[in-house]
Amino acid sequence: MKQKINKAFDEHFSGAGTIYVAPGRFNLIGEHTDYNGGFVFPGAIDKLMMAEIRPNGTDKVRVYSLDLNDYAEFGLNEADAPAQSWARYIFGVCREILKRGGKVEGFDAAFAGNVPLGAGLSSSAALESCFANALNDLFNDNSIDKFELARIGQSTEHNYCGVNCGIMDQFASVFGKKDHLMRLDCRSMEFEYFPFKPEGHKLVLVDSVVKHELADSPYNKRRASCERVAKRLGIETLRDATMEMLDAIKTDITAEDYFRAKFVIEEKERVLTVCDALVAGDYDTVGRCMYETHAGLSKDYEVSCEELDYLNDIAKECGVTGSRIMGGGFGGCTVNLVKDELYDNFIATVKEKFNARYGHEPKIYPVIVSDGARKYEE
Ligand code: GLA
Repeated sequence: MKQKINKAFDEHFSGAGTIYVAPGRFNLIGEHTDYNGGFVFPGAIDKLMMAEIRPNGTDKVRVYSLDLNDYAEFGLNEADAPAQSWARYIFGVCREILKRGGKVEGFDAAFAGNVPLGAGLSSSAALESCFANALNDLFNDNSIDKFELARIGQSTEHNYCGVNCGIMDQFASVFGKKDHLMRLDCRSMEFEYFPFKPEGHKLVLVDSVVKHELADSPYNKRRASCERVAKRLGIETLRDATMEMLDAIKTDITAEDYFRAKFVIEEKERVLTVCDALVAGDYDTVGRCMYETHAGLSKDYEVSCEELDYLNDIAKECGVTGSRIMGGGFGGCTVNLVKDELYDNFIATVKEKFNARYGHEPKIYPVIVSDGARKYEE
């Protein structure tokens, strides 16, 4: 990928720039909890976005996307937003840095990635973190702290891409650490690294290849439901809600809002249970919680789809320790914790059965927990 980017950069802009990378993420547990002030438990993966960047001494940004074979050029004022949706991620990052009093001048960039798009692995957060980190290095002497870099990506989603997302994806992409998961408290923003090498198990993502599009999607509606319930309870976020509190207002809210909030309240407890179980090497408990999350996301939060439920059923049949839909939902991947000795059979079975029903095999990505956004060094 690096050589391809070098070549494209040289062809379009002549010469060479500095290379930066940022990864996608997976999440062991804690879904739709980030924007509710709850806990998440993600890690960065070995799939990433890579960009070669060089200041060009003008007030224009010129960017070439290798994967889309598309070129965009824009200025740095609010009115200069590019038409292409992919370029709005980069424009948004520039604008959000400027809004915070940071510095961005014109630059040239060529970029590519191997984070599968629309698979729930946060390709857009990877792109945002890659550019936020690069522009911090190139124009701001790395004076913007890492949490702010994550927030710059998140605000880009909110203000330029129409997704009212939480902080998990950008946080994981910026803070990722090889062989470690991170438990983030999305209210206090305190986090802890947990060494992650599940003994006797493999972690694998199974991609349904059903595309999900979060903009204008039911994702924003889920968030609105949670905020309505929190408001009704007189609290800031569902982090402070209990099932007793929710049951006390059950008749005042819609059934839909009730079940959305119920999932969130249960899920925030599950993250803590899973962290403890992981430390104790109790993978059965980790796995049971993953199945519970899937059931909740499917039935109460309603962000699953037929294909993902089928992947979950196959995992259960194959004796997989834990399996669940991962990320925002509406397509994408399941994350699976599988005993070493069951792994080959699970992969063969899931490919065969899914193919028999949907006419194509799911894609398989073994999880390799990796480092976060950084300047690329060979
Ligand atoms: C998407 C969002 C995240 C988070 C997850 C669900 O990935 O970008 O902020 O809400 O969905 O856990």
